[in-house]
Amino acid sequence: MQQGKIVILTGAGISAESGLGTFRDAGGLWSQVRIEDVATPEAFARDPARVHDFYNGRRAQAASAEPNPAHHALARLQARHPGGVVIVTQNVDNLHERAGAEVLHMHGELAAALCARCDHRWPAPEEMGADTPCPACGAPAARPDVVWFGEMPYRMEEIAGHLQDAALFVAIGTSGQVYPAAGFVEEARLCGAETLELNLDASDVSRAFDRHAVGKASEIVPAWVEEVLGGA
Ligand code: APR
Repeated sequence: MQQGKIVILTGAGISAESGLGTFRDAGGLWSQVRIEDVATPEAFARDPARVHDFYNGRRAQAASAEPNPAHHALARLQARHPGGVVIVTQNVDNLHERAGAEVLHMHGELAAALCARCDHRWPAPEEMGADTPCPACGAPAARPDVVWFGEMPYRMEEIAGHLQDAALFVAIGTSGQVYPAAGFVEEARLCGAETLELNLDASDVSRAFDRHAVGKASEIVPAWVEEVLGGA
C-alpha cells in the first residue's frame, strides 16, 4: 500500500464515460456555448435567465448520470486508506459522492444554490430562475453555487495544505488548461511528491508528471487503484 498521503485531482474526463460532456474535447461544452455568455459573473448580471437555463440543463444531465468504474475505484481506495486519500475535483457533478467518496469541490456544485445577496447556501431546486427566492433573506437572488471564470475557487488553503503533505499527486481526466488546478502538479513536486497523470490523451501539463497511464478512466483508474491496493 502506498505510504503517505495521496492527493487526487479529477477533471471532466473522469465523468465523460458517465455521459457528461467535457469542456474542451471535440464537441465539448465550450464549443457549444461561449464561456462569456454563461460562465462569468458579468454573464449572470447581463442575462441571469440564460445562465440559469444553462445550469438547469447541466443539473438535469448530472442527476440522470451514474458514477462509472473510475468513481467507484477512487471511493474504494479512499475507504481502504482512511484520511490518506484526498480527492479534489474541478467537476460540479456529484458522481464522486454518489460512488461513496468524500471530495473537495474547488469549482462548486450543481446541486447547490447560493444567494448572491446574503451568501446563504441551500440544495438547488431542479429548475432555478432569476426569481427563485433565497430561503434565508427572501431576495430573488439565487445563483448556481459554481465558481465562474474570474471568481476565486473554493477551499484553496485546505488544498494547498494537502499538496504540501502529498507523497503522491495524481491528476485524472483534466486538460491542465485552467489554473489554479493546472498548477497543483508543480506545487506537489516542489514538496517532494511523486506525480502520475491518468488521461485519455496528453494534457497541457503532461511534461510535469513523472509517470503517465493513457486510456479511458473507467479502465485505467480501477487498474491503478488495484495496483496501489496491491491486488488485496
Ligand atoms: N478518460 C480519461 N480522460 C478523458 C476521457 C476519458 N474517457 N475523456 C476525456 N478525457 C480527458 C481529455 O483528454 C482532457 O484532458 O479529460 C480532459 C478534459 O479536459 P477539459 O474538457 O478541459 O476538462 P477539465 O480539465 O476538467 O476543465 C477544467 O475548466 O471550464 C473549466 O470549470 C471548468 O472545471 C472545468 C475546468
